[in-house]
Amino acid sequence: MQFIEWTTEMSVGAETLDGHHRMIIDCLNRLHPLLDAEGNDAEVKAVVATLEDFVLVHFSEEEQEMKRAGYPDWRAHKELHDRMYDVVFALKSDVERGDTVDGRRLFELIENWLVTHILGEDRKYVPFVATHAAAPLAQWKRSNGREV
Ligand SMILES: [Fe+2]
Ligand SMILES: [Fe+2]
Repeated sequence: MQFIEWTTEMSVGAETLDGHHRMIIDCLNRLHPLLDAEGNDAEVKAVVATLEDFVLVHFSEEEQEMKRAGYPDWRAHKELHDRMYDVVFALKSDVERGDTVDGRRLFELIENWLVTHILGEDRKYVPFVATHAAAPLAQWKRSNGREV
């Protein structure tokens, strides 16, 4: 049983971006049991480095895709990415320095941000990315309290 299960409701309608999300979730699943035991420093370091790589590539490609698809709120979405990346980078720096990190607290933070982000923010661009059509704009504005 994985700590976080991938479900189809996490799909954002784009195969590449779904693949990234699955890789990020896989990293979180690998990190989870490592935090329960001592002496896993090298492995924790490797998983966190991989996570940071995936997150960086994913955010960049997702931002490109949102822009290309005409998603109106891509700038605000990018700001959320930037803040999440800062946390992931700080975690990586702590691990690399060999500092004592509160792994569990940081794991919860990343898990909440990343998974909640996929199910919340990322799903808002689905109608745009899935169809590349202009029609979803009115629906998006209505569901996000914007003027139509
Ligand atoms: Fe994403
Ligand atoms: Fe995102």
